[in-house]
Parts: sequence; structure tokens; C-alpha cells
Amino acid sequence: MCGIVAYIGHREAFDIVVKGLKRLEYRGYDSAGVALMNGDLRIYKSQGKVSDLEAISEGKDKSGSTGMGHTRWATHGAPNNENAHPHLSQSGDISIIHNGIIENYVTLKEGLIQRGHSFISDTDTEVLVHLIEDIMEHSKLSFVDAVRSALKQVVGAYAIVILSKNHPEHLIAARKGSPLVVGIGEERGEYFFASDATPIVEYTKKVIYLKDNEIAIVENQEMIIKNIENVVQAPYIQELELNLEQLEKGGYPHFMLKEIYEQPKSIFDSFRGRFNSATSEFHMRSIEEYGDKLKDIKRLILLGCGTSWHAGLVAEYLFEDFARLPVEVEYASEFRYRNPVLYSDDLVLAISQSGETADTLAAMDLAKRKSATVFGVCNVVGSSIPRLSDAGAYTHAGPEIGVASTKAFTSQVTVLTLLALGIARLRGTMNIKAIASVMRELEQIPEKVEKALKLNDEIIVLSEKYKNAQNFLFLGRGYNFPVALEGALKLKEISYIHAEGYPAAEMKHGPIALIDENMPVVVVATNSEHYEKVVSNIQEVKARKGIVIALVTEGNTSLNDLVDHVLEVPETIEYLSPLVNTIPLQLLSYHIAVMRDCNVDQPRNLAKSVTVE
Ligand code: F6R
Repeated sequence: MCGIVAYIGHREAFDIVVKGLKRLEYRGYDSAGVALMNGDLRIYKSQGKVSDLEAISEGKDKSGSTGMGHTRWATHGAPNNENAHPHLSQSGDISIIHNGIIENYVTLKEGLIQRGHSFISDTDTEVLVHLIEDIMEHSKLSFVDAVRSALKQVVGAYAIVILSKNHPEHLIAARKGSPLVVGIGEERGEYFFASDATPIVEYTKKVIYLKDNEIAIVENQEMIIKNIENVVQAPYIQELELNLEQLEKGGYPHFMLKEIYEQPKSIFDSFRGRFNSATSEFHMRSIEEYGDKLKDIKRLILLGCGTSWHAGLVAEYLFEDFARLPVEVEYASEFRYRNPVLYSDDLVLAISQSGETADTLAAMDLAKRKSATVFGVCNVVGSSIPRLSDAGAYTHAGPEIGVASTKAFTSQVTVLTLLALGIARLRGTMNIKAIASVMRELEQIPEKVEKALKLNDEIIVLSEKYKNAQNFLFLGRGYNFPVALEGALKLKEISYIHAEGYPAAEMKHGPIALIDENMPVVVVATNSEHYEKVVSNIQEVKARKGIVIALVTEGNTSLNDLVDHVLEVPETIEYLSPLVNTIPLQLLSYHIAVMRDCNVDQPRNLAKSVTVE
């Protein structure tokens, strides 16, 4: 995880770097630090958030038109001042910021200690900057060549920026396995570096996404990109589609609430222009270009982590129902260490908001090595997952900044619905009329989500009542079992209340023992094939005095006397019901977390982009 930002140019670097770090704080907020160059190299760092860094640098010399900063999610070493980046070399001449993990740092460190180096921090990063200096001293390589040589010795992942007091005209950045974007400023010699494009967008729209094993070297106002073998690379300059308003809270108290309310639009953007419900035709590159392949696939394997894995679980039902494909849904973190049996007619589909989740990337890599076709469904344009995929589709949800995923989930489900329908059409497992009827209903979903958002006031009242509960249970069946899992995940990650999601019928095989008069049980009981069975499960909870909050289809009053609270959501077809039913559960977790005084957008111990395994 961790976020990095750097600037070299003609403006004062401090404000640019600190503003950028605030945009990247979703990646970690254990500590923050900056390094500034203006003849000398000044470093300010602090445990905690970027605001703590601002406070400690108040009144200090912040001048310098070259600078870099880091916001940390602790991996090696506690979240304290010593472990905060930037780190310095033995002499203090060279400074580094790093996102990633240097796996062989212990071995490298032992060698350096034998050669007289001493370390201040427990981090893997400090080892790398010492190694660079050690190489410069012992082999007399130039600064740039020493960085290259050190990187060749590193096993692991990194996005780094390096500055040296003795080479003030230089800035060196490199990536392998962790993202790094370079923004090209409008004036000659101005460059921006960041873990994603959000700190860059307000200055320039021209960016280069560095590839693995590439090193960007700025020297005397010019930048060249080389690979680790010192061969000059021709960069691909892209135009950013992102705009600044998308990165602001827009009047909402938290990004999470803004993103929950954006869902009518983000769902619409996820399907807009991708199908024609009058002709049942699809306009998706992955379906058009890979049509022959997709027609003949024998099995689909969906990969993801956390909320993206939940979207995969919804997609399992969709692909089975629509495309009649055998489907497996795998935690990427487990799949990557198995020895899975894969065939060339398997389709592996990775799902990810950030496009940088280390486990998902490793699992895709394994699938590719075993010759499966690998698709990606991803939100962040230009991130690593789409680049590793043979094909796929972006979710177009727009930037998701709240650490808890909300709009990305519903956009993933929307895009996966389209892919399932598209593949069903190719395979002839659904007739055109049936496809068109699902498409027409999908077109209604943004409006239905808008209506579901109107439950907000009722949910505030409920949240007040149950905000002090110690545990919560979420139950659902079929398409709404993953919704129950997602409801539980949202609640535990932002409000720190223990919550479990379960298939409603599984409750009697264990969790029913937990039920007493203090246990709120949220049951998704909207119209479905299993409705009557879910009602029986509710009876089982009530018989044990559990508190039931039931999500029912609008107009259904039949549970009013049985349950404690009813939330009515707009009716839709069962296939698309997760898109509507997830909304009240997101609002419930949001309001409970706010009422418990939790940091909703930056919950403890979490980071948005999990770039370490
Ligand atoms: C939960 C959440 C995480 C992510 C998971 C995967 O709200 O945000 O569980 O879903 O870390 O991240 P991506 O989708 O970026 O691969």
C-alpha cells in the first residue's frame, strides 16, 4: 500500500506534495513525511496523518522546487516516526520513498551491516537506500547506475522516488509491481510522480504509466525512461480522463456517503453505450474481439478479494443462469498459492476496483502461466490489472476514495451482468427476447437505486437504535447471499462491530446459537424464488427472540407483524436485486459508523489499495 508523490520543476514543491499526499491518504495513514531539496535535503515526518505532518512542519523551512512525500501503511516496522518515510542513506546524502515490499531485505541488510552500515528504522526501505550508497562507494558507479544496480538485487515490489543532496539536478523514480504515474507539466522541466493520477490531475492531463522494471530519470530538466538493462524506452503518453470535481467531497461529509449517493450515475455509466436493448446487441470490445474464444470456453474462474470477491459471488449466479457455464469463485490470495488445474479453454476473470491488489495480480499471473485466457474487470484506468489482462472491461464508476468500497461493487455487478449476458448470447444459452428483457430492467436500475436511497431517514433511526450492538448477523439466499456478506463486511470494516454474513439456511447449522434478544439480524427477504424459505428462517430467528430488520419488496406488508423493522426496496428481477438491496446495507453501516465516531473514510488498519500480500 502506501502512497508516494514527488515533484520537480519551478514551483514550490511542499504544497504540491502535501496536497497530493492528502489525495493518496486512502492508501495508508500510519505516518507521513516529506523531503525537500534546496541546496540541502530537509526531511519532516510524523506518525499519523498528513495533517500531523503539516502541523509538525509549521514554521519550518519549506522551500524547494524539488520534493517528495509518502503516506504509509505499515508493513515492516511499527507505525512510528523512525519507520516513517523518507529514509536516508548512511551518510544522509540520499533519500528514498517507497511503496511495496523488498522481500530479501534481511539478507541485504546483513551484508550492509557487515560493511559498517547502521540502521535507524525497522523498514525494508531503509535497506535499499543504504544499498544504493554502498554500491556508489564500492563500485564507483554513477548515481543512476548505482540505483539500477541496487534494483537488480532487489526481490519484491517497489515504486520508489530517490533524491540525492549531491545530485540536485536529478530525480530518479522506478517501478516493479507497485504503481507509479508520471505527469508531464506544461512548462519544460516540470514533472509530477505519484502512486495514482489523483495528485497530478490538477496540474496536467498528460501522463505516463511506468511499466515494471522501468526507471524514469530526470536530469537537468529532461526526463528519459530506461529499463533496468539501461535500454532507453519510448514512453506512451496518455491523456487523463479524470477531473478535479470527481476528487472532492462535493458537499457530503464523507467520501463514502458521496459515493453511496453516486450509484444511480455510476451504475448508469457502467452500462451506458454498451448494449442496445432494442436489438440485444453488445458494444463491448471484449465480447466483440474475443467472441470466438468466449463461445467455446468450458469454465469460468472468477478471482478477487474482499468486496470484489463478493461481486464475483453475485456473478457466479449470473453466469450460471445466463451463460450456463460452470463457475468457480476464488479468493485471489488462496488461488495464487494453489496448484490449480487450468485449461486453455478456461476463462479467468479478475475483479478489482484499484487494479493494484497484489494477490489478484499474482493469481492472474499464475493463470496466464498456465495458459488460461485472463480477463479483468477493473475501475482504475491504466492500473496493473487491466494491463495484465488479455481483455476485459472498465467499470466506469469514477474514482472511489472512501476506503470501504460501495459504488465500485455495484458497478462491478453491472459490468459482470453485461458480460454474462454477452457470453450467453454468444453461446446461445438465452434467447434474444430474454436478453432484451434483462437489459430493459437494467436500464431501470439507476432509478430504483435512487428510490432505495430515500430510505436514508428510516435507516438513520434504525442506526441510532442499534449503534451499540456488539454483533450483527446478515442473512440472504441465492443472489442475495453475497449481499449479506457485503453488508457484514461494510459494517465491520467501518464501525468495528463484529458482523457475519451467512446464507440464511445455513444459520441453523451453527450461527443460530448466537441469537438472543440482543442480536440484530438483517435479513434480505425481497421477492425471489426462495422468499418463503427466507420467511421460515426469519421465524427461526424470532422464535429465539432475535431482532429482525427485514429488507422486503415494496408493497409487501406481510412481515410487518413478524419482524421488528421493515425496509421496503423497489421491486426488480431477482438477477438484478443485489444492485438495489446493497444500498440500504451500505447506508446502515455508514450511519452506525458515524454515530460511533469512527473514521468512516479511513477506517483503522485498512488501506484502499492492497499492494502487499
Ligand atoms: C472492502 C474493500 C476491500 C476491497 C479489496 C479488494 O470495502 O474495499 O475488501 O474490495 O481490498 O480491492 P480491489 O477491488 O481494489 O482489488
